[in-house]
Amino acid sequence: MAFVFSDKYVHSFVGEADLLAVSDEVNAAHKTLCEKTGAGNDFLGWVELPISFDRAEVAQMKKAAEKIQSMCDVLIVIGIGGSYLGARAAIEFIHGNYYNNKPKKTPDIYFVGKDISSSHLQDILNICKDKDICVNVISKSGTTTEPAIAFRIFRDLLIEKYGKEGAAERIFATTDAKKGALRSQADTYGYESFVIADDVGGRYSVLTPVGLLPIAVSGADIEEMLAGAAKAYEDFKDGDVLTNGCLKYAAIRNILYRQGKSVEILTANDPALTMTCEWWKQLFGESEGKDGKGLYPSSAIYSTDLHSIGQFIQEGSRVMFETVMNVNIDDGFKVPYDAENGDGLNFLADQTINFVNQKAHDGTVLAHTDGNVPNLSITLTSRSAFDFGYLVYFFEKACAVSGYMLGVNPFNQPGVEAYKKNMFALLDKPGYSELRAELETRLEGLK
Ligand code: PA5
Repeated sequence: MAFVFSDKYVHSFVGEADLLAVSDEVNAAHKTLCEKTGAGNDFLGWVELPISFDRAEVAQMKKAAEKIQSMCDVLIVIGIGGSYLGARAAIEFIHGNYYNNKPKKTPDIYFVGKDISSSHLQDILNICKDKDICVNVISKSGTTTEPAIAFRIFRDLLIEKYGKEGAAERIFATTDAKKGALRSQADTYGYESFVIADDVGGRYSVLTPVGLLPIAVSGADIEEMLAGAAKAYEDFKDGDVLTNGCLKYAAIRNILYRQGKSVEILTANDPALTMTCEWWKQLFGESEGKDGKGLYPSSAIYSTDLHSIGQFIQEGSRVMFETVMNVNIDDGFKVPYDAENGDGLNFLADQTINFVNQKAHDGTVLAHTDGNVPNLSITLTSRSAFDFGYLVYFFEKACAVSGYMLGVNPFNQPGVEAYKKNMFALLDKPGYSELRAELETRLEGLK
């Protein structure tokens, strides 16, 4: 198995007795999830998705992906949060950080609508304006500002290049089945569309068309990805806090939280997992960070960040623990021999780069645990579509169980609305005039 979860480095912080002490709580949280009796139970469509997904829809996605591959040099994926992170994470996990720069038969893929940066939008426009383009616009609500602005810009570009009908042929919309502005536009202009089910929230949607269509365009095998998730579904279906890794991870997170650890750092020793960490941060941050509770989800890439925040992790405030993703893939690439040995590195000559990375991993885990930073461990021995699906399902299920243990609704995100309300008021959106006056007075008072 290419995925192994282990708590071997955490035994001096959390022992079997600690796990058994929360066993009833974990079982209750797991039961709540499986029996769909807890808060947010109308958002549990992801639980059985790997075994009950619509095969006809997957076939439609594969066909659309082939069409996109044949029609364009560049696919622009428009979306934010859960409508963006999973696809980008998967593409980088499988193809590495330089997918766009690699020689390949599939289109380059750029992500926009994930921020409100004028220069970022213009950079992507300039990169792709002379190329053949398709757009996959993704928004469950169909009303999110960031992707809606980006969609206006890229839809206009497509109309300018291909005319209204030609543009419609190149736009693929992923949105709600019935409601929202994007659904209306897809129906009005005849965009090929894919549905985000009502019972799957944004951060749990990577294994739906939200993630799967762009991932398929990159040439990755989405059926393998779903097979990986299905294997995780089976592996973590039963058992208890000692035998089920998913339940154990959820339990240890909560035990450490109660011991005063308020930050979890997800680390990886391969930059290809940078966006996987970003996806994970949204999953856990939006699911658990509410009601004044929750671990703050952070991330780091090693050994890069050992030369920046490594000092803090080793010796700063003792508020964190780490979940360490150890990518252990030996492709035989070696450190060269140098006859002059000016850098004194010949003791490494003929060792593989991965061998050095593994020793860095082992040394770091021991140093950090010595520094009172508990470490949990996930070892990955390949980076296939199957592995990504497996990892995603492991984290999704652990997050839901952990959220129920924490006593929150892991499937809502009420706090996300606060900035939107203020932004709309300050932008003078109709209906917000009272709030606008109040906010402007407050801002004025700060000067
Ligand atoms: O997890 C979530 O629900 C959010 O991050 C959303 O995915 C994000 O806000 C984008 O929303 P939408 O897909 O409705 O545009």
